[in-house]
Amino acid sequence: MIAPISGFSKLDKEEKIAWLSKTYLKDFPKAEKVLRQYWNIDLPLQQLHEEFTENTLSNFYLPFGIAPNFLINGELFAIPMAIEESSVIAAASKAAKYWQTRGGFKVQVLDTIKIGQIHFLYRGDFKKLKHFFNECKPVLIDSVSNITRNMKNRGGGVLNIELRDKTHLLDDYYQLHCSFETIDSMGANFINSCLEKFSETFKTEAYNYDEFSSEEKQLEIIMSILSNYVPDCIVRAEVSCPVSDLTDEKHRDPETFAAKFLTAVRIAEIEPYRAVTHNKGIMNGIDSVVLATGNDFRAVEAGIHAYASKDGQYSSLSHASVENGVFKLWMEIPLALGTVGGLTNLHPLVKVALEILQKPTARKLMEIVAVAGLAQNFAAVKSLVTTGIQQGHMKMHLMNILNQQNATPQEKEELIHYFKHHTVTHSSVMEQLEILRR
Ligand code: MEV
Repeated sequence: MIAPISGFSKLDKEEKIAWLSKTYLKDFPKAEKVLRQYWNIDLPLQQLHEEFTENTLSNFYLPFGIAPNFLINGELFAIPMAIEESSVIAAASKAAKYWQTRGGFKVQVLDTIKIGQIHFLYRGDFKKLKHFFNECKPVLIDSVSNITRNMKNRGGGVLNIELRDKTHLLDDYYQLHCSFETIDSMGANFINSCLEKFSETFKTEAYNYDEFSSEEKQLEIIMSILSNYVPDCIVRAEVSCPVSDLTDEKHRDPETFAAKFLTAVRIAEIEPYRAVTHNKGIMNGIDSVVLATGNDFRAVEAGIHAYASKDGQYSSLSHASVENGVFKLWMEIPLALGTVGGLTNLHPLVKVALEILQKPTARKLMEIVAVAGLAQNFAAVKSLVTTGIQQGHMKMHLMNILNQQNATPQEKEELIHYFKHHTVTHSSVMEQLEILRR
């Protein structure tokens, strides 16, 4: 039986690894070497990474790649992506090139409002609460002036605070529903700091409000936290071209292709099993850019999937149409992103990613991320309704299989050549490798 450890966080890195080795890694003595192998030889850089989080033992690499040729609102971008899945960057690059000669991606930020909420219980007369809230609202906004000063100078700040009655859902439950503009920062720290100050002020003011009974004065703050659901922080991305232009070297029948594509998107709109996978393809593009630019992909994921269910059933994020002979694929998604603050000023690779994107504002980054998602969706659905995805996917996966088998550079070269003209499956690769090695 393994005994619990106390004071683990106080141990230094070597001590943590030693404890782990003797406790959980007894049968895997190589583990220590692997952990050390991923340390950066640049000590300050290693320390920077260790200090991003707690109990760090090593670094966890993801490939950092680039998909060039993205024509976005008439400007060409090369999009950095951090992702481990084979064929995602290849698919993005292919879709970028495809649309570059068909008018490119059109994208527009529709709104940038972020939300935070104070959830509280109040036992008393709602009319009195409403009256109190209206009197208190300017005091609340005033109470955060120290926190909001810089943000205001940049054009952001608190937009509004609403009192919401939620007692039909839970006895005595009310909210202060607060909206913010956070300009180029994702805004989580800013919003949470404002909310905690609002809560403190709201509670004090309630306690001193003469109209309240002693019970009403005791309104109880349950929690104050931003919401990662941002349905008013929305970006719309679109591609379109005449159906007759939807040909390429492999596909010569654009009408059939367009019709099949539309049906595939329609299926994702009405069938949750398909919608989840369809949207997962979109998230391949979105997450990889969100990660490469040092943003919070968990927040983005949670917000986008909630948005995909906004009409009561989980559905496709993208939509397609053919009207007057023009094919269109588009998507509106919520995205709360930042290009200042957080990791963006700290992580050297994130700085490189933002530089590649020409130092985007948060709005511009919303546009680029949405385009990466839409490109990925187009590439995935195009493959699905034509060749199937395994052909391309397994070609990209070939390298993973070869690496698992410790293939030499010469073996890799020969097998890459061989599989240019043969179908990649795990067993076919193993078979060919064995033949080579015999
Ligand atoms: C794989 O990572 C993503 C796809 O499954 C997306 C889709 O099915 O649309 C190919």
